[in-house]
Amino acid sequence: MKTKVLMVCLGNICRSPLAEGILKSKVDPSSIQVDSAGTGGWHVGDLPDSRSIEIARKHGLDITDQRGRKFSAYDFENYDYIFVMDNSNYRDVIDLANSAEEKAKVQLILEEIFPGENVDVPDPYYGGKQGFENVYQMLDEACEKIAARLT
Ligand code: 4NP
Repeated sequence: MKTKVLMVCLGNICRSPLAEGILKSKVDPSSIQVDSAGTGGWHVGDLPDSRSIEIARKHGLDITDQRGRKFSAYDFENYDYIFVMDNSNYRDVIDLANSAEEKAKVQLILEEIFPGENVDVPDPYYGGKQGFENVYQMLDEACEKIAARLT
């Protein structure tokens, strides 16, 4: 059976679509499924933010097949690992969990590179292009660790 990984941020247009695209590029899709979702519903059905599309493209990834969707409690049943981008996403997702087993699936993604430090992937939505490049680099490093662990 496939291992299923879900990347979660607030809007599902900036950070988690990048995380989805980056991890997909590092794993075998026949054994690992990667998706993303947002805790908020403002961008359901939308393409990723144009700045995320541009940064991904600069690094050789096409994320334009992705569309925004909202995280739901049902995702706990469907996914093995739920990586959240920041502490606020963590609280929002944990609030929807129904058991300790479901809660245990949720992890801050930067725990992969800064264990125990509770570090957020900063929300680049209101900033400039450099913020998206910074986010890309952090997520690339974290996804490298995740891919190595799951493969
Ligand atoms: P994301 O960034 O959580 O990385 O997708 C955001 C995108 C949109 C909004 C907030 C954060 N928004 O409020 O619309």
